[in-house]
Formats: sequence, C-alpha cells, structure tokens
Amino acid sequence: ADIAKLRSALLDWYDAHARALPWRRPPGSTDRVDPYRVWLSEVMLQQTTVPHATPYFERFTARWPTVSDLAAAEDGDLMAAWAGLGYYARARNLLACARTVARDHQGVFPDTEAGLLELPGVGAYTAAAVAAIASDRPANVVDGNVERVVARLFAVETPLPAARPELRRLAGSLVADDRPGDWAQALMDLGSTVCRPRWPLCLMCPISGFCAARATGEPDRYPVKTKK
Ligand code: ADE
Repeated sequence: ADIAKLRSALLDWYDAHARALPWRRPPGSTDRVDPYRVWLSEVMLQQTTVPHATPYFERFTARWPTVSDLAAAEDGDLMAAWAGLGYYARARNLLACARTVARDHQGVFPDTEAGLLELPGVGAYTAAAVAAIASDRPANVVDGNVERVVARLFAVETPLPAARPELRRLAGSLVADDRPGDWAQALMDLGSTVCRPRWPLCLMCPISGFCAARATGEPDRYPVKTKK
C-alpha cells in the first residue's frame, strides 16, 4: 500500500473534520499544546467517553490551570472533583504524577516517551499519546479505536486479543515524523466517528480506497474476535 498517500488522505480529512475539543489546538493553528492538558485529557479519556470527560476537563483546568496548581490540591478536593469519573486509583495516580512533575521536574513535563514513562501512573498508552500530541514525537499511539482501524485496513484475520502485537506493529508502520500528534488523533477520530465498531460509514471514509476489510465487503467482521 502507498503509505504516503494514505497518510495525507487521513491528515487532510483531519484538517477538515477534526472534532473541536478543549485539549486540542484550534483548527489551522500550529501552536504547541500544553502537555499538562494533554496528559489530563488522556488520563480522563482512558476512563470514559469524550462527551462525559469534557465537562470534567473544563472544571479541572479552570480550577487547576497548571500541573503545579494540581500538585498543590488537597487529596480530598481532587477526589471530590473526580467523583463520577470512576476508578479512584486513577485519581490517586493523577495526584502522584502531578506532584512528581512539580517537585522533580520544576512543573515541566518530560518531552520524551521514555521520560514520561517514568512518571507514576503513566503507562505505555499515555506516554505515547502525550509525547506525540504535546511534543511532536513519532510515538505509536494505540488505543481500541486505532486497533479497529488498523485491523480493518489490513484485514487482520488473527482474532483479538492474540492480534494485539500484530496490530501494534501495523499501526507503527503508519507512523512518521510529520505531524505525529495530529496523526494519532486523526486515527482516533476516524475510529470513533466513521470506522465505528458497528455500521462503519465507509462511504464517508477518506481511506476506504486503502482498506482491505472494505474490499472484502464485510468491514465490520474486523477486528475478528474469538467465539466465546
Ligand atoms: N481518546 C483518547 N484520546 C483522545 C484524543 N486525544 N482525542 C479524541 N479522542 C481520544
């Protein structure tokens, strides 16, 4: 497949159709995004959907505009603000991470994937997402949406969960130095709005011409799952 053409088709689509979300830069802007806002949004989004997370994100950033402000929060205040997002271990990790960044890094997030991975509560997904989106690192950002898009593009017959390493490798084959943060978010937006789990909207898909699952006529058969 012609990866350069596929990439520009999806990035052009993202330029025209990116969801306007409060942790993203405005369309057409090339401003840097604040790693604190990217990190906070990614932690919340591992927990819940974009519509549910958005008002929490707005409240958190209004109350704690920087990671050092968050680091100075009382535990109880943070837990109360987190209420409704669920999984409270994540809120504790959030505070531990903010305090580490404030204390050990002078309030500045590391700008590499490896540096981010050393922070408490920051796993492979979050480190890759923050490195790509906030620091333009060509990190391989793979969530469930990305797995589905890639499983379809390459019509991967291996069922989940065994297919995960293969899907990760295939996703990595599409990553390049150009606009890595936009690339990651373009895949996520495509997966949630067009390449949906059921009833994918292939007629609206900017990369349907590259998609092996589409060519089979049964795109929603992918990713293949083992029968329970
Ligand atoms: N889900 C997880 N991270 C996201 C992001 N940055 N944009 C949209 N959806 C997401």
